[in-house]
Amino acid sequence: MRRIVFITGAARGVGRATAFAFAREGANLLLSDICAPIEECPYPLGTSAQLQESASRCRELGSRVATAVLDVRDQAQIDAAVEHCHGELGQIDVLINNAGLVGPGGMPAHQLRESDWTTMVDVDLNGPWRCAKAVLPDMLSRRGGTIINVASTAGMVAFPFFANYVAAKHGLIGLTRALALDYAPHAIRVNAVCPTSIRDEPQLDSGMLTGVASMLGVDLEDYEALSLPHHPLGSLISAGDVASAIVWLCSDGAGHVTGAVIPIDTGFTAR
Ligand SMILES: NC(=O)c1ccc[n+]([C@@H]2O[C@H](COP(=O)([O-])OP(=O)(O)OC[C@H]3O[C@@H](n4cnc5c(N)ncnc54)[C@H](O)[C@@H]3O)[C@@H](O)[C@H]2O)c1
Repeated sequence: MRRIVFITGAARGVGRATAFAFAREGANLLLSDICAPIEECPYPLGTSAQLQESASRCRELGSRVATAVLDVRDQAQIDAAVEHCHGELGQIDVLINNAGLVGPGGMPAHQLRESDWTTMVDVDLNGPWRCAKAVLPDMLSRRGGTIINVASTAGMVAFPFFANYVAAKHGLIGLTRALALDYAPHAIRVNAVCPTSIRDEPQLDSGMLTGVASMLGVDLEDYEALSLPHHPLGSLISAGDVASAIVWLCSDGAGHVTGAVIPIDTGFTAR
């Protein structure tokens, strides 16, 4: 039977690459995104056209796809999308908490406004908790399911000038471990992936790395050149690298893996 996979932030970037990877595995998909700007975020977010592009390319790969415009800061919108999915596709087997912001940032912590802090935590940490809350009743009733939280190397080690992002992603790793313990007796597995900087790719409409470089006041080439010496394998990663790890974590092959925090970072956090 085809699994039903709910992905947040699926309009572009890692969310879109993960949707393609699950479509190739034969899954049906609930693809969602905010499809609107967030005032505090200094770079543009995904659009409805990009979400529809992700959906139509997954349909070409053979998946049935439902889409939902939702903000992970709003529990009612998330619950409505899950309800819509029940009617269109069925109950959710897999949740990929991918939607996230990296900005506002690029400044020391005392310069962050109250809203810079609360917006980041509300999207990057509270959002995954809300989405988990929405799908866990389905998973509990069927005694099984998998949740992946897309954290960051910034959830494992600190980076200067992104205190709100670092704190939210560290919190997301704590949430991952707590959920893993709470739901292991119900055969529900919860894991986190921690990507290093992901190269932007035109076919994924991704632009987060350009946003990070701009917040730090450097151009993208300089940012990459400064980053590479800290990566033992000598490269950054692609969104497809993250998607492959996610698909494996959701597979039967990873059936005994829960509470894991997996760096996909070409060795960045090994030092
Ligand atoms: N790009 C990187 O270098 C990098 C590195 C480490 C971790 N990550 C993490 O990977 C995940 C995906 O990042 P990406 O590089 O694809 O970024 P991206 O900005 O290209 O994609 C994120 C998507 O999330 C959506 N989104 C943002 N806020 C939302 C909200 N409140 N509700 C619903 N959707 C929302 C955006 O519209 C966007 O389409 C994020 O959680 C990010 O923190 C990215």
